[in-house]
Amino acid sequence: MKSLALPVTVQYIDEYGAGHVVPGAKISQFALLDILDQTRLPENICRLQLFTQEGIFDAIKRLCVRGAPAIGCSAAVGLAVCAARFRENTKEAFMNHLKETAEYLKSSRPTAVNLMWAIDRCCAAASPLTDIESIKQKLLDEALLIVEEDAMLCRKIGDAGAELLQDGMTILTHCNAGALATCGIGTALAPIYRALEQGKKIKVYSDETRPLLQGARLTAWELQQAGVETFTICDNMAASVMQQGKIDMVIVGADRIAANGDSANKIGTYQVAIAAKYHNIPFYVAAPYSTIDYSLPDGSLIPIEERKSDEIYHCPGVNVYNPAFDVTPAELITAHITERGVLKTLRF
Ligand code: MRU
Repeated sequence: MKSLALPVTVQYIDEYGAGHVVPGAKISQFALLDILDQTRLPENICRLQLFTQEGIFDAIKRLCVRGAPAIGCSAAVGLAVCAARFRENTKEAFMNHLKETAEYLKSSRPTAVNLMWAIDRCCAAASPLTDIESIKQKLLDEALLIVEEDAMLCRKIGDAGAELLQDGMTILTHCNAGALATCGIGTALAPIYRALEQGKKIKVYSDETRPLLQGARLTAWELQQAGVETFTICDNMAASVMQQGKIDMVIVGADRIAANGDSANKIGTYQVAIAAKYHNIPFYVAAPYSTIDYSLPDGSLIPIEERKSDEIYHCPGVNVYNPAFDVTPAELITAHITERGVLKTLRF
């Protein structure tokens, strides 16, 4: 089996150094959230060490860490790191401070539900405890459990998806739903990595993903590190590449999936799904259960982040509309690839 060379996207570090990514690490007043700064890739491989709520909020907002599962994991570890420095000495005052920080971090980006899910899960795990030191430790334990679980979920998604892939296939993907977007081997890219480990040869077409180029900068970079043959194409080439018969399957990730299977992902995914339907190419969405929001009956209720106009080239004075995500209706999705297998209807 080939071993993969993939980046470490999010980790917890303290005065004893990095690498405490598994449950068992002790919370420390010197605790730091350590992330790979994805705004600098692929030219520069730099890491950021963060310990203030403003720094963590800013890193998520600016997409230094991005991708739904990675946002959830970094916010969970980030919350524990912030709480380790709280100085309140009654549980009530401590919990009020925790709630404020939790709500603040949750407001950094609206679409990826993993962010809210991870923070709520950590707060729920810690709140029954009575003494403050145990609450601080529990916040870290739960965050590191989420990180560890994420790696395991990615691997299971990879195993389920790899069964769909035959030697010699070519996959088209949009944005980055790989190792950089998770704490494991990714979601949409996980089947490709597992297939590679199984000795299958898979080629990938990666949409550049305007305006922030997650496909051209991140997906192409991480696939190249892993030894996968990759072609970068402009977003507006996807339909033509399908028409030329070059694509066997589309696999993308998701930021939030409504109960009926409608799936929000990076802007441009919807038009890829329409083009795939027209060309009879299977279109899969790969995601873990933490991405499903059962409180929303359909995708029209998914909050879509609108980002600043300066991310898009425009003539001075001309208006810009910059939604960061779109929603692909369930009817365009062949199936969801999840840790429970390849599901035509979402029943977890
Ligand atoms: O704005 P981004 O880069 O955070 O958008 C990321 C995506 O759209 C991913 O496809 C999605 O989060 C799935 S990541 C496994």
